[in-house]
Order: sequence, then structure tokens, then C-alpha cells
Amino acid sequence: MIWNSVAELENRQGRLYFDGCSVEELAREFGTPLYVYSENRIRANYRRLLEAYQKEYPRFAAYYAVKANNNPAIIKLLAQLGAGADVACVNEIRMAQAAGVPPEKILYSGVYNSDRDLRYAVENGVRLNLEDVSQLDRLEAIGIPSFLCFRINPGIGASGIEGLIFAGPDAKFGIIERDIERAYAKAKTLGVQTFGIHMMTGSNILSVSYFEQVVEKLLDLAGPIAQKLNIQFDFIDIGGSLGVPYRPGEEELDLDAVARTVVGKLRQKLSQYNMGEPLLLHEPGRFLVCDAGILLASVTSIKDGHKRFVGLDAGMHTLLRPALYGAYHHILYAGDLSAACDTPLNLVGQVCENTDQFAKDRPLPANVKVGDLFAILNVGSYGFCMSSQYNSQPRAAEVLVANGRASLIREREGYQNIIQGTRIPPHLIGEA
Ligand SMILES: Cc1ncc(COP(=O)(O)O)c(C=O)c1O
Repeated sequence: MIWNSVAELENRQGRLYFDGCSVEELAREFGTPLYVYSENRIRANYRRLLEAYQKEYPRFAAYYAVKANNNPAIIKLLAQLGAGADVACVNEIRMAQAAGVPPEKILYSGVYNSDRDLRYAVENGVRLNLEDVSQLDRLEAIGIPSFLCFRINPGIGASGIEGLIFAGPDAKFGIIERDIERAYAKAKTLGVQTFGIHMMTGSNILSVSYFEQVVEKLLDLAGPIAQKLNIQFDFIDIGGSLGVPYRPGEEELDLDAVARTVVGKLRQKLSQYNMGEPLLLHEPGRFLVCDAGILLASVTSIKDGHKRFVGLDAGMHTLLRPALYGAYHHILYAGDLSAACDTPLNLVGQVCENTDQFAKDRPLPANVKVGDLFAILNVGSYGFCMSSQYNSQPRAAEVLVANGRASLIREREGYQNIIQGTRIPPHLIGEA
């Protein structure tokens, strides 16, 4: 196996293949930079998650966090597999609807919602996950739904990257412990009949014990409320957060162990608080699509300065994570996987920022030359969807591959996309 358990990434006589497609042929056919997603890997990730949990707790369901990769083909694929959708804004609601996800399986976890956002969700029968009690007052004017969920900030958050911690005192998300009872009591008074409870404490977590710890914390908050207010929780949503190894040598998350410990704790707490058997929801983004995506980039120019800089046609406008949070992405020299990686190289983009560097002093082959192809791994989540047109750079194309067949799922941008929608005001037209 070249990369963790991703069977779809193959070394065939030194050349890189992804879900049966030669990445060099993909680069020739579609150009670079190019995002490539493996359909079989996404299917396998979804299946692994469902199997791990459902054998422990049959009332388990997975909602796909659309923000991780919002290409309509990816949303459609997961919808066809049966996933619900975790959505963060009206456009994501619309995309989930377009993919055929039924409204009762769309959970809208908007952040700092406007009245317009709330109205769209209510009018479309989408389930609402509110992050503040004040939004209930505003809902009164719009219409009180029969179901409501609240996003809780359970006071603990975690991630290897600070920007990916979503709970605790510094987090802008969720209702704090002090206000939780008030939120549910008020919703009940307003006529809400069924409830959910939700948390999302951090992303890319690789520790089994962490999941057990946060589930315990969430249930210790939910249980007393269920008893005191005499409400039944329809579902317990423990967020996304399931991590994926980015660095060589990092252990993959033991999904069976996560499911076993989470469900063990869940069952213990459900029985302690006499809460019946609500649906258990996970809403992963990264886990489902991260390792199903690679970014192909070609070498544009090589410079020997204080260091050897290898310029690529992808940059921070294509994949932001390294510049945004110093995130590590493993990189393969796609045309010759057997070449010795013994020379420290800096792989950089064409953007005029010095943070535009995918790899610093990374051991790679010495004989890299202009035109060579690199594959940047683990970019299926928070890759294309975070890309921009900074420095007037067009966005990349995206293809979905399966069993040696490739389908273009987003066209490459060009100059017209950069200027699209802009106007020169009349007084600036004509001679200067
Ligand atoms: C509410 C919510 N659910 C799910 C996710 C998906 O998280 P992950 O990609 O860690 O699975 C996020 C990510 O930001 C989120 O904010």
C-alpha cells in the first residue's frame, strides 16, 4: 500500500495510478492543477463508517458535512449511498436538496444565522440546529418548527491544529453550559415537540479516548435536561471530527475502537438518564472524502537560491491548508515512485506570498525537472472548496475517477472567470 489503507492509490511499475487511472494520463487529458477524487474510496469510507457503528448500535446514521467538499457530484454520490447532509448555509441546503437528500435528513447548523437563513430552512422543512438562544426569539416571528436541535459547546475542544478547535472558551460556536436548559425549556414552551442535541468540538482527531470523553460530557449535559424538562431526544449528534493521518507514520484511527467506546459510553449514559434509544448521528466531512482526493500539479520552474525551490502550477489559491495553518500534506513524485527521495526541496506555488509553500526542505528526488508531475495527497476535504482566485489565478478542474474511468466534474477556470461579473463604471471608460 502506498498510502495508509487507500487501496485505490497504486504503484504500477513506478507510476502512480488512482482508482485504475494513470495520473499522468489524467494530467495530459485534463491539464494541471487537477483535483482527482476516487469514487471507490469514498464508497469504501462511507461503508467502513456505517459498518463499524451499526454493528454496535443499529440506530446509527451518517450525515455528510457538505463544507468538506461541495462538488455536486460528490454530494450526489454520498446522497445515493444514503447519507444525510450537515449543511452550514442556505446554498449548502440548496445543494443537498438538489442532490436528493430529503429535508428531514438535512441538518442546518448555520453559524450566526440571519433571519433570511432561518426562514429558508423553516420554509423548506430542513431540520434546524441553533447555536444560540436568541435565535429562538427570532424564530417566533418566522415560524416555530416541530423539531429543534441545539449545538452545545461542551467546554472541551481538541485538534492538532489550533484553528480546528471548535469548542471551549475561545470558540465562537455553540451554546454554553449555563444556557442549555433555558434553550430547551423555551423551545418546549414555544411548542417544539421533538429535539436533537449536537456538538462539534474539533476536527481531525485521531484519539479514540477523546471521542469517548466528549460523548460522556454531551450526555451528562443532555441527560439531566431530558429528565427535568421531560423531553425525548430524537437524536444525539456527535459531530464530525474523525481524523485521517496526514503524515507518514501517523496511525489511522481505529474506527471499530471508536464505535465500540462511543457506543459503550452512549449506552451507559442513555440508561443512566433513562433516555431510550435515540438515533446516533455522526456528520463527518474529512473522514469520508479526505484521502479520496489528490491534487496533481506540474513543475513550472526550478530555482537554485538559498535553497532549491521547485515551482508548481498549483499554489495557495489551489490548496490553502499549508498556508492557512501550516498543514502537512504528503507529496508523491508521480512519474517515478521508485526514485530515491534524498534531496531537500521546497515545493512552492506562483502566488506572491511567502506562505505559498507546500513543502519545506522535504526529501524528494534530486533530478526533478520542469514538466514533472507531483501528487499532493489527502486533499479531498477542505481542498478545492477553500480555493480562491487570489493573484488572478483561475481555480483548478476536478475529476471523479472509478475503475479506470474519469469524469470531469468541474471545468477549469480561465480568464473569463476572473473578470466575470465585474464592471467598469462609465466615467472610467474612454481615454485616460
Ligand atoms: C457542524 C459541523 N459538522 C461537521 C463538520 C465536519 O468536520 P470534519 O471534517 O472534522 O468531519 C464540521 C466542520 O467544520 C462542522 O462545523
